[in-house]
Amino acid sequence: MFPILHRIQTENFNNRLEPVARIISMQSDNKLSPIGVFDSGFGGLTILKSLTEELSEYDYIYLGDNARTPYGTRSFETVYQYTLECVKKLFSMGCQLVILACNTASAKALRSIQQKDLAMIDPDRRVLGVIRPSAEEIGKLTKTGVVGVLGTNGTVQSESYVLEIKKLFPDVNVYQEACPMWVPLVENNEYSGDGANYFVKKHLDNLIQRDSRLDTIILGCTHYPLLMDKIMKYTPPHINIISQGEIVAKSLKDYLHRHPEMEQRCSKNGSRVYFTTESAEHFDQQASVFSGEPVKSIHLAL
Ligand code: DGL
Repeated sequence: MFPILHRIQTENFNNRLEPVARIISMQSDNKLSPIGVFDSGFGGLTILKSLTEELSEYDYIYLGDNARTPYGTRSFETVYQYTLECVKKLFSMGCQLVILACNTASAKALRSIQQKDLAMIDPDRRVLGVIRPSAEEIGKLTKTGVVGVLGTNGTVQSESYVLEIKKLFPDVNVYQEACPMWVPLVENNEYSGDGANYFVKKHLDNLIQRDSRLDTIILGCTHYPLLMDKIMKYTPPHINIISQGEIVAKSLKDYLHRHPEMEQRCSKNGSRVYFTTESAEHFDQQASVFSGEPVKSIHLAL
């Protein structure tokens, strides 16, 4: 077990982030290279869960920008700036590889970071998103060639899913529906209450009524799996609902297989460290629901 990560996991480091971050950063020369997993809030934990199931040997650092969530209603420029800031933070903690476990950040910031910023920060580091692997999968799964995407306003307006799916599967028809209330329902722990029924049904009805041939829906937001019970309740059984955790985990596995130079730089002690830009106590309560196990996080002041 790597001693620094072990200490972070087992002690209360709230309000003591900077010394910790410095230690982690110093260790980066010493082969401590966790995989960074970033989301605007809790949603990316649904991805992290699958990553740690499929690729359990790696070290992971999760960063949730809960203080500035939701991203889905923010402008391109704001999402890009926030995401870049968080990616740089993860790099400073030794991450060589960062997964944007957030569709909104993948839609609005990934391309600029990959094409512009990485060259200046460190051309050997990598940032990957969740939209491309999801687009690959949805095109393979549909039988009728008519698919639906549920996402935040930002993801839907960016048309990223439509563009990616059309690039890979030009004959597939894509319908999108923005669900602006779903992330706040999840972030505020209201996803299982009766109040959520109205908003879940409303957006599913809007999407499904667009084309009777629709047979596959992707949950294009990492928060949405928490609403799965209600989503299933309001979706006819012939329509498949796809969530992204397993897809992203398989895609990362494949990526690491195809890129041994990166795979060898990722450290493997099976540790997980959680950072949040909001209160650590609040994060821990909610995060354990997403993760299905107790979480002890560290507050990060950006
Ligand atoms: N989990 C983010 C996503 O996948 C939620 C976005 C938000 O903060 O609005 O899009």
